[in-house]
Amino acid sequence: MNPMKPIQSISPERLPELLRRMPKAELHMHIEGSLEPELMFALAARNGLTVPYDDVEALRRAYVFGNLQEFLDIYHAGTMVLRCEQDFYDMTWAYLQRAAADHVLHTEIFFDTQTHTGHGVSADVVISGLHRACVDAQAQLGISASLILCFLRHLSEAEAFEALEQAMPHLDKLVGVGLASSELGHPPEKFARVFAKARGLGLHLVAHAGEEGPPAYIWSALDALKVERIDHGVQAMKDAALVARLVKDKIPLTVCPLSNLKLRVFPQLAQHNLVQMLDAGLVATVNSDDPAYFGGYVNENFTQTFAALQLTAQHAYQLALNSFEASFLDASVKLAYRHRLNEFFETFV
Ligand code: ADE
Ligand code: ZN
Repeated sequence: MNPMKPIQSISPERLPELLRRMPKAELHMHIEGSLEPELMFALAARNGLTVPYDDVEALRRAYVFGNLQEFLDIYHAGTMVLRCEQDFYDMTWAYLQRAAADHVLHTEIFFDTQTHTGHGVSADVVISGLHRACVDAQAQLGISASLILCFLRHLSEAEAFEALEQAMPHLDKLVGVGLASSELGHPPEKFARVFAKARGLGLHLVAHAGEEGPPAYIWSALDALKVERIDHGVQAMKDAALVARLVKDKIPLTVCPLSNLKLRVFPQLAQHNLVQMLDAGLVATVNSDDPAYFGGYVNENFTQTFAALQLTAQHAYQLALNSFEASFLDASVKLAYRHRLNEFFETFV
């Protein structure tokens, strides 16, 4: 059911406020990408480390990227300040506070362990810190948060199996697995067996595909990895048969407009294909990806994208509804959030 009050009666001037206040879920956000420069410097000082930039402003000035790989190089360097459980807790808590302020009711957080084990921090430390912040956020902020372990696709299948093995004692703290890092030259099929194993463990499956990479990578994420959601997926629009498949199977796409802008997937936000995706019947959602690096959290993604593409309150409703429907929440919880969303739109004055 839709809200009783016609959504068209909401005036365009009220749209930014509507976007900010509407209940939503965030389904594509890498926790290491939420590490703000201020916290990076603070953690470095606490751990007796240095950041190779003079100050916060100098670091922020370095956040100019020509493509995904240029970003990943800086992003991985930033993770070097994360050493102990409290560091992972503090980073996650900071994100969850911001998400709650953006009226995010539920978030599914990406993280990886391979980056951290690669420089001597155990998977236990990473997962324990993230999980403890999620538990506290539920109790203190009223926001629910689940964790998705991403494998790094530029590394080997054996290393992904090792990461899954190291996460086994924490299976109850994970909702799913994903696939992230450098896309071009790293098609999904290398990870078919590790995804099959994760599926056998009862985990949900997602993968980054069609961010910079071709539609073929989305096909193989669906057919070889058997994912339930595609992260980004904006390149799908180049392949009509693929769009038909995604629509038929109601495969959600977690779109990240400011990320796409900052990584030059689209030259301008006004050229983003989100409207075409929605018009084609795709279950698209709006997310922040790496908000500390790309200039904004989820509400900033909504407000800038709506302004650039001249989207309407009806689009806002659809995107918020999609965010809950595309989540890995139980059906009864999804229904409750749908009611809450309808109530919000009905009472928005
Ligand atoms: N890891 C963090 N952000 C990413 C992105 N946008 N694409 C792939 N891997 C990532
Ligand atoms: Zn991502």
